[in-house]
Amino acid sequence: MRDDVQAHLSQALSDREEQGILRKLRMRQPGADFYSNDYLGLASNNACHEMLLASLHDNPQWLRGGTGSRLVSGNSALTLSVEDFIAAEHQTERALLFPSGYMANLALFSCLPKRNDTILLDEFVHRSVLDGCRLSFAGKIRFQHNDLGHLESRLAKTKGKCWIAVESLYSMEGDFAPLHDLAVLAERYGASLIVDEAHAMGVFGHGLVCDGHLQERVFATVVTYGKAMGAHGAAILSHGTVIDYLINFAAPFIYTTGLPDLFAATIRNNYIFLQNNPHLREDLQNRIRYFSAAGLPTLSGAGSPIQAIPCPGIARLAAAKETLEAQGLYTFAVRPPTVKSGSERLRVSLHAFNTHAEIQQLTDLLKEFYDAE
Ligand SMILES: Cc1ncc(COP(=O)(O)O)c(C=O)c1O
Repeated sequence: MRDDVQAHLSQALSDREEQGILRKLRMRQPGADFYSNDYLGLASNNACHEMLLASLHDNPQWLRGGTGSRLVSGNSALTLSVEDFIAAEHQTERALLFPSGYMANLALFSCLPKRNDTILLDEFVHRSVLDGCRLSFAGKIRFQHNDLGHLESRLAKTKGKCWIAVESLYSMEGDFAPLHDLAVLAERYGASLIVDEAHAMGVFGHGLVCDGHLQERVFATVVTYGKAMGAHGAAILSHGTVIDYLINFAAPFIYTTGLPDLFAATIRNNYIFLQNNPHLREDLQNRIRYFSAAGLPTLSGAGSPIQAIPCPGIARLAAAKETLEAQGLYTFAVRPPTVKSGSERLRVSLHAFNTHAEIQQLTDLLKEFYDAE
């Protein structure tokens, strides 16, 4: 029996290898970073770390481990005060911290939409949203990416309570959701809009919901701290009743060890550091403009730190990535099953710390690659 299982697993792995899509863990590369989500460079910013270390020195109790669920022994005065801090920063009623964005999405979508409700999902929403939906008894319907007409036709046909799930900045496309128009549509049909801001948080102020003053029109927002915020963890932002409901009914919140104080302290530290260093956002926008001036084909929005360069075909994509890596430039090859076969792309993530020379080298090589075909 055991051998059967092993044989089945090995077969699945060798099928993937044959298709050129086997995933492997690789060490972080020492070259130019065009692949991480550390858009503002906070994850390795010495001044940011020094600031955190100074407060840790005065508060060594923050090094205590999580010890248990927030509902048992894992809650702390620091976590509560950081949640109040986050809510005030985002001008929302309450915030609830999670150990990761994946878990925040699991909590929201597994817990809020009920049987006979319908969740309308942008076809490109993140896997964590899809997995949350799988844990819910609600119906699930996809609508075409950023297509308000298609979403409206789905809303018009759907009976019962509707939820709409979108990202404000899409992780594999690098384009933006029409948030304002989505809010209008949600209001027209009495639907509840949930926005995942994983890639917008920090890059565009406190995210595009906050930037667009949409807090009151969005039912709940997920912000994550492992990307531009250079830390780890996530928060759900919403009304007090929603947060109290999640604390009572969301299994991914209840049945896991609470976020340790060190994580909460890092999150608050990085908000404050970023507020004191607005030039980091300007540096990033400068790098994005520099990249965009090269005029490469892209699926992404203007001003987006994620530039998705279409490169259909797994072998062709691998060749493009290797050409860049041979020169020490590290990008991310987006392949199936993350995207549909035929829509492979090279994801170039831009950072405040990328030099103009690196960007120039990258765009020159990509142009040569495209011209050679
Ligand atoms: C759009 C989106 N949502 C949620 C997540 C999950 O966030 P975390 O990495 O904090 O689990 C990611 C991570 O890649 C993401 O891209």
